[in-house]
Amino acid sequence: MKDLFKTQDITYKREDAIKVYSDKDVASAYVAERIAKIIKHKQQIGERAIIGLATGSTPKGVYRELVRMHKDEGLSFKNVVTFNLDEYYPILPVDDQSYMSFMKSNLFNHIDIDHCHVHIPDGTLSLEGIQAYCDLYEQKIVDFGGLDIQLLGIGRTGHIGFNEPGAILESKTRLVTLNDITREDAKDDFGGKEKVPTQAITMGVQTITQAKEVILMALSQRKAEIIKLALEGEITTDIPATFLQKLRHVEYILDSEAASLLSR
Ligand code: PGA
Repeated sequence: MKDLFKTQDITYKREDAIKVYSDKDVASAYVAERIAKIIKHKQQIGERAIIGLATGSTPKGVYRELVRMHKDEGLSFKNVVTFNLDEYYPILPVDDQSYMSFMKSNLFNHIDIDHCHVHIPDGTLSLEGIQAYCDLYEQKIVDFGGLDIQLLGIGRTGHIGFNEPGAILESKTRLVTLNDITREDAKDDFGGKEKVPTQAITMGVQTITQAKEVILMALSQRKAEIIKLALEGEITTDIPATFLQKLRHVEYILDSEAASLLSR
């Protein structure tokens, strides 16, 4: 019997959990369509769509397509509440490298979302205030009924959000130390590795896996090695993305370069 699993309103065959596209734009359009479908479905039933968002180069095409849908097709975000995965710490929201700035320039400034519905971890907190803030971030997600979908990229360390090697399955939103490779990968954005913050606030692995649907995207050859380990390697805290392997509500959207080392 085929191994079937159901998400919000679509039934997938297990073998469909990994989708490989030759064209990055087509992959991004597919993900944008999935998000738009949830937003429209929630509009029809008079509810809010609770969407978990990611930053980095990978989801930019998804945001471009969502902005296009808003402008050309009238897709409204008035019923959308967002929670971003992570933010550097410390950082000011107005800094060019902050994920707040990223989200505004790539998505929020171009759509009709109510800015009170946007949640991004605050990089300006005092150290003593962080844990209570993180607990509240978790609670807000729960109070909104949980994330309907969580979008993820993957770092070369195997991080999801900023859950670096060593993060456990039960981890929740918290302050973390960034892996050296992650800081290396961010150095161009900051104009030098020494300028990349050493810490960040991130949703935990548990926060992510509790979303009703999870989409992990990886585009480009740069991700091929970590995608092989994340999807086919043993499940280990050394590669936090491996925690997604056993979950039935996770979909992997890859381009052919990122999928090039997969053996299945
Ligand atoms: P990238 O980052 O999309 O810029 O490759 C992904 C990540 O680190 O999660």
